[in-house]
Amino acid sequence: MKKRIAVLASGRGSNFQAVIEAIAAGRIPATCVALITDNPKAFAIERAGKAGVPVTVLDYTTFASRAEYETALLAAMKKTRADLYVLAGYMRILGPGIVRSFPQKIINIHPALLPSFTGLHGQRQAVEYGVKVSGCTVHFVDENLDCGPIILQKCVPVLQDDDEDALADRILVEEHRCYPEAIRLFCEGRLEITGRTVRIR
Ligand code: GRF
Repeated sequence: MKKRIAVLASGRGSNFQAVIEAIAAGRIPATCVALITDNPKAFAIERAGKAGVPVTVLDYTTFASRAEYETALLAAMKKTRADLYVLAGYMRILGPGIVRSFPQKIINIHPALLPSFTGLHGQRQAVEYGVKVSGCTVHFVDENLDCGPIILQKCVPVLQDDDEDALADRILVEEHRCYPEAIRLFCEGRLEITGRTVRIR
């Protein structure tokens, strides 16, 4: 049975694109039933249009408060009846009400090897810290930032002349492999969470 996945994105949506392409190629047994975005200018909207994915725009700036925005977001998410919610460059923190509504059903990709370099600019933090390897992490979303159980990680070298952009480009190549792979494992029912540990069956 195909799973229903909904993607939340705020920007260029290259990870969203990688997921769309993996589905189209038959590599993920799923249908992408929705793109939800907080940003009416997100390039991800164009990608959704080309792929025939329905779009819901909840322009954050038009809501009176964060609480009102989150109420609308929760309703939009529920309406998709998705089996999995995929955060792909979604630039807001999901409130606890939303996270609790979809336990072990929301995943995120972070451009660093968690638990290092959480929050914004994971690639810049890695360059500034002087680490020799970095990478990306796909993890379940819990109520703490960039903290839920880890599904997959991929490493890349940090080269001595790297700036933030060079490292980000190298990590992004791995993100585009890693995220579809993690989603495939989820959709195949192969992820088993025990405490912080995710086993792949
Ligand atoms: C990626 O680097 C991802 O790891 C982070 O936000 C960026 C999104 O890029 N969470 P894109 O919108 O998927 O191109």
